[in-house]
Amino acid sequence: KFEGLALSPPMGWNSWNTFGCDIDEGLIKTIADKMVASGMRDAGYQYINIDDCWHGERDENGFIQADKTRFPSGIKALADYVHSKGLKLGIYSDAGNKTCGGRPGSNGHEYQDAIQYARWGIDYLKYDWCNTENLSAPGAYRTMRDALAAAGRPVVLSICEWGDNKPWLWGKEMGHLWRTTGDIINCWDCEVDHGSWSSWGILRILDMQDGLRQYAGPDHWNDPDMMEVGNGMSEHEDRAHFSIWAMLAAPLIAGNDLRSMSKSTQKILTHSEVIAVNQDALGVQAFKYKTQNDVEIWFKPLQDKQWAMMILNRGDKKAGVSFDWRNENVVDPDFPGNGQFYTAGFANSRYKIFDLWANKSAGTTKSSLRVSVEPHAVKLYRLEKIT
Ligand code: DGJ
Repeated sequence: KFEGLALSPPMGWNSWNTFGCDIDEGLIKTIADKMVASGMRDAGYQYINIDDCWHGERDENGFIQADKTRFPSGIKALADYVHSKGLKLGIYSDAGNKTCGGRPGSNGHEYQDAIQYARWGIDYLKYDWCNTENLSAPGAYRTMRDALAAAGRPVVLSICEWGDNKPWLWGKEMGHLWRTTGDIINCWDCEVDHGSWSSWGILRILDMQDGLRQYAGPDHWNDPDMMEVGNGMSEHEDRAHFSIWAMLAAPLIAGNDLRSMSKSTQKILTHSEVIAVNQDALGVQAFKYKTQNDVEIWFKPLQDKQWAMMILNRGDKKAGVSFDWRNENVVDPDFPGNGQFYTAGFANSRYKIFDLWANKSAGTTKSSLRVSVEPHAVKLYRLEKIT
């Protein structure tokens, strides 16, 4: 694979969660404009990713073409436009004969598709897993990786097989991120049954990440799916969702309609301190330290011996939480940083506390932390070592 393209989790936007198959070049261009105007580009969002259904037919030589009605100017012109805004363009295909939306898949055309993407100036490929009955997942993703390498243009490869074939065990060799679950949906804690598959609310997706953190790191991330921030949940839920994705070092791919987003959604998506937790150079996912009834306390090691801490109230009632630092022994269960497991050592060291969503300092670890957390909400802190 092209090494070093995703040293921190990729950030961008994708058309699927809001628009499904209803996409065209006008929409993609306007989204690129809004990425800039909303401050999202400057906050770190880079990729504009076209999901399923951009395709037309293959030409007489087998090269894939865009849908001529929806993308009359072609993908090259769109890529030029997106690049002119200081952004990058992503596209979508499928390892099988057809995509999930019934468009031409890449099976048997991988090298040709990779050449076409390179000609167009594509920077990111999401590669889906519908209609792949006789294929092996590692094999199919290896083929596309090698095809992209042969075409020569650096492309981030996003593996999208929903965790069915344990991509955390082989995905690092093939791509830069891999989906760990089926599709996300815009609810706090629900499962929506579609017959042969389900989509999952925020807490369900979170719980499905259990046991996977050890497989992720710079250039190879667990992907709990694109975000639903701004797609109808409450402000507390959206903030919690974004905080969870930050703590999980998840790719931050917005899935809302940037043309009509509220001020509050924009503030959540561009919160620089929360984004910094996600993008931290250590690239270590958070771990669940403690559960008390509906409340979970999570810690994420950061560079320079800092930590991020999230208090998540999953429940429907306000929760009072008190955390007596001196009696807590926070040690990373999986990651030995420089031979030693990341250890907070609150008994011997003191930290300054910053409340990230409140944008203010919250004292130090000298005295216990006492907070109340709203239902379906989080408190998110950064701890900076002072002694
Ligand atoms: C399934 C994927 O999981 C979704 O994110 C989306 O890409 C659809 N396929 C498109 O058909």
